[in-house]
Amino acid sequence: MIRAQGLGRTFGRFVAVESLDLDVAEGEVFGLLGPNGAGKTTTVRLLTGVIEPTSGTATVAGHSVRDAPEKVRAQVGILTETPGLYVRLDAVENLRFFGELAELSGLERRIQEVLSRLDLWHRRREPVGGWSKGMRQRLAIARAVLHAPKVLFLDEPTSGLDPEAARSVRALVSELRAEGCTIVLCTHNLDEAERLCDRIGILKTRLLRTDTPARLRREFAEPRTVVRLGAPWTEDLEARIAAWPFVRSFASAADGGEGRTLRVALAAPDLDTPALVRALVEAGASVRSVADETPSLERVYLDLVGAAHDDAAGGGAS
Ligand SMILES: Nc1ncnc2c1ncn2[C@@H]1O[C@H](COP(=O)(O)OP(=O)(O)O)[C@@H](O)[C@H]1O
Ligand SMILES: [Mg+2]
Repeated sequence: MIRAQGLGRTFGRFVAVESLDLDVAEGEVFGLLGPNGAGKTTTVRLLTGVIEPTSGTATVAGHSVRDAPEKVRAQVGILTETPGLYVRLDAVENLRFFGELAELSGLERRIQEVLSRLDLWHRRREPVGGWSKGMRQRLAIARAVLHAPKVLFLDEPTSGLDPEAARSVRALVSELRAEGCTIVLCTHNLDEAERLCDRIGILKTRLLRTDTPARLRREFAEPRTVVRLGAPWTEDLEARIAAWPFVRSFASAADGGEGRTLRVALAAPDLDTPALVRALVEAGASVRSVADETPSLERVYLDLVGAAHDDAAGGGAS
């Protein structure tokens, strides 16, 4: 549904997005994750035919963003970071305004359909200026999907929303996903990206990595087995643990009380955890609990973005 090849955009001498290669399949939810200024919004503008690339090209829903940006725009829906709604108009009037601008046919029926879907139909006669931010965001999404676009671009759809409103917007994205909508979701919220996206691209001017959330995690963060031990803790025990063949490395820390918390990197966590527990018990330790520590995607992200920063600084680029 989306294919970008060497896509780039500069503003004067400033490089906002550089040599972006990207393939997004129909029905896929693709997350563009990156810190502020990473080029997420610029990428959305490039892929929706709003601005022209300065290098490379892309096709979206079968149309080239260079040669047929107006055809691309007709096939995509965009939720921008600051969606403009008319606060004095009600929901129906807002959608009618945008629908007429786009010369949509069957508009009134479509408006009813979309507002019902987004659970806003019963509030349709109220000026949206009096609505909560969350409801306005739902209406902005209604506007983005009004023409039943093939691809939906959501630029930071939950930023600035309270947790309740953010949850309702996420639920909505999940529903759209279940209906087979192709979605590009920009966010700097890792948790959100992980929950909603099939694949994540980590962007910082360049696309640093693209993969499934699970694979990003597995590749970059080594799993740990966390064992909480009761007293006593001896240096002798510490030395013995270090010598066990299945222990690749470990860290131990006082847990505030009498006990100790061990974080152990095992050669093969699934196989070696029972052996670790057995060895600890035989060595006289009192095992209080054992848990797998799931490596956080946040770590992966910070490592990647941090490394990109170091590269840029090391290479002398501005
Ligand atoms: N029209 C523009 N003119 C000049 N610089 C721009 C323009 N649009 C974006 N930029 C710059 O490009 C970089 C990427 O911006 P943006 O795509 O908005 O990032 P993000 O959405 O990831 O926060 C920023 O440094 C921004 O200042
Ligand atoms: Mg942005």
